[in-house]
Amino acid sequence: MKQETKNLEEVRLVALGFLKGLVEKAPKQTATVVGLSGDLGSGKTAFVKCVASILGISEVITSPTFILEKIYIIPRRTVEGERFTKLIHIDAYRLEGGKEMSALDWSALLEDEHNLIFIEWPEQVADAMPKDMMKVSFEYVREGVRNITY
Ligand SMILES: Nc1ncnc2c1ncn2[C@@H]1O[C@H](COP(=O)(O)OP(=O)(O)O)[C@@H](O)[C@H]1O
Ligand SMILES: [Mg+2]
Repeated sequence: MKQETKNLEEVRLVALGFLKGLVEKAPKQTATVVGLSGDLGSGKTAFVKCVASILGISEVITSPTFILEKIYIIPRRTVEGERFTKLIHIDAYRLEGGKEMSALDWSALLEDEHNLIFIEWPEQVADAMPKDMMKVSFEYVREGVRNITY
């Protein structure tokens, strides 16, 4: 599904649709990993902010580019969040290969079916990504306009 978004409210609607579908497609026994692909400024972090807001997370979501990973507790009050207890936001932009993911205790994160993991720049660490990773792609169309495909 490809959708053009012209503002963050429209991004939020796409994120909501994505999360509704995710509940059925997510692997049952392991973490759910969503790879976010697209150039700098194409809206990857903005999408995670919308997901966090939908899941009832009130903390301010900042880009994890410099700190690699942020973990947020999902309060149990949204339908989409019932299965998941943690939202994990990773930015692999500065990584060079899946081996560097071990610093995050990556294999333990993958084992926990309650983890919902969004990772920007999954291409940087492709060899550490699970085969069942879901994908969302972002495209800068012009000022204020982005395409989101999943
Ligand atoms: N339709 C849109 N969708 C997403 N972001 C948008 C859109 N229009 C403008 N923006 C802006 O573009 C920037 C996207 O940046 P960000 O989400 O950090 O990108 P990335 O994480 O892909 O580098 C934000 O400042 C956001 O407000
Ligand atoms: Mg980003």
